[in-house]
Amino acid sequence: MKNFLTRRGFLGRAAAGSAALTWLSSRKAPMALAAESAKPALLGGTPAHSGGWSSWPTWRESWEPAIIKVLRSGKWYRGDGGHVAEFEAGYAKLIGAKRCVATASGTTSLLVSLHVMDIDAGDEVIVSPYTFIATYNAILINKALPVFADTDPSTLTMDPASIESRITERTRAILPVHIYGMPCDMDPINAIARKRKLSVIEDACQAWLAEYKGRKCGTLGDLAAFSFQNSKHIPSGEGGAVTGNSDELLDRCQAFHNVGRAFGTFKGERPYFTRGSNYRMQQFQAVLLLQQFEKLMHETARRQENADYLSAQLKEIPGIQPARLPENSRAVWHLYPLRYDAQQFSGLPRDKFIRALSAEGISCSGGYHEQYFDGILDEAINSRGFKRLFSAQRLKAYRENFHELKGNRQVCTTTVGLGQNLLLAERRDMDHIIEAVRKIQTHSAALIRAAA
Ligand SMILES: Cc1ncc(COP(=O)(O)O)c(C=O)c1O
Repeated sequence: MKNFLTRRGFLGRAAAGSAALTWLSSRKAPMALAAESAKPALLGGTPAHSGGWSSWPTWRESWEPAIIKVLRSGKWYRGDGGHVAEFEAGYAKLIGAKRCVATASGTTSLLVSLHVMDIDAGDEVIVSPYTFIATYNAILINKALPVFADTDPSTLTMDPASIESRITERTRAILPVHIYGMPCDMDPINAIARKRKLSVIEDACQAWLAEYKGRKCGTLGDLAAFSFQNSKHIPSGEGGAVTGNSDELLDRCQAFHNVGRAFGTFKGERPYFTRGSNYRMQQFQAVLLLQQFEKLMHETARRQENADYLSAQLKEIPGIQPARLPENSRAVWHLYPLRYDAQQFSGLPRDKFIRALSAEGISCSGGYHEQYFDGILDEAINSRGFKRLFSAQRLKAYRENFHELKGNRQVCTTTVGLGQNLLLAERRDMDHIIEAVRKIQTHSAALIRAAA
């Protein structure tokens, strides 16, 4: 919850105003050489960037008539009108999936996917620990155990090499998270799943239009979950989608998300022959989303162009490491993360670096922390249900494994994230970000003295 507030609060503020560490050479861009001698804003200098950043979400007046039309029709529920089905067809086409089921949120998309892939009480799911807390929750709500694979510090996503040692006879699925819109390395993950007969559910809640080896995230496993919550690149307040390429699985998703009503080939003698819940999307959400496809494509291209530029420049600064993407992949940058090595900044701790960068007018945050130590998992494994479902020995070993997540700890303690709306700005604004980092590095010793 703390992280949730931090991340979304961070977007709001922005609107207003090792193993894998391979540090690269220190060539400097000419523009930065001039600027880096200026005093950091935290020491009384002029901020590298002024005027804030664009607010989020943004909308167009041209969207209003369609929304008002739904209002005046009184057909607000998906069963009474076609906008939700239209959105499902359009979104599936956009990402190259065979089918899509629209839902109330990313969390409910994960719940639908887990149910349809037959994750049941007492099962185990291998999952990335570096994610928004909803990914943990969706597994826990099914009374299954989220077993954390480690995070690769160079990619910030699930380290495929850490999966197999965590598989037990209870493991049913792997749930990789394309965090910040950076695709996981899906080939080795899918190969392990095939070999060990496990399902693969992608958490693509931050990965609209991200690509892995020529295919979009959301088409790479058995099922995938997307979120359209307000902070997302294609927002509708709340909202979500399940995507996939199997008619049989998607028929089951339709049925489960709609109180267990028969759908397509998934039917019985009676209309309510299977369990289900109400995770339906509303017509208003669908109409908002349908109008954003072109905006999403356009803005994604802008974010990618600015991120490519930032990565090329920032990797030249000693102590700053942009994330590595799998070969032939495109990220969509929900946050733009970089890894920070304090040693190259005279020992300036990460939180002080974040403060100094924020003072330069560059909104940033520390990303996710080690949430498995926050109590949510202790509460779950000490509950009556989990104690009935898993042996004391298993739960003890499970809890101890949190300390083995060394890659994830590195990522949690050294990442600095820039918000997606910063990447929608102009090229000169990217130069301000680079200039600010260089300025802080040049004056890092003075910043430490000032903080002491
Ligand atoms: C990685 C990830 N998974 C799951 C979710 C849950 O989505 P929602 O907030 O729409 O329920 C989110 C949303 O923030 C997310 O970022």
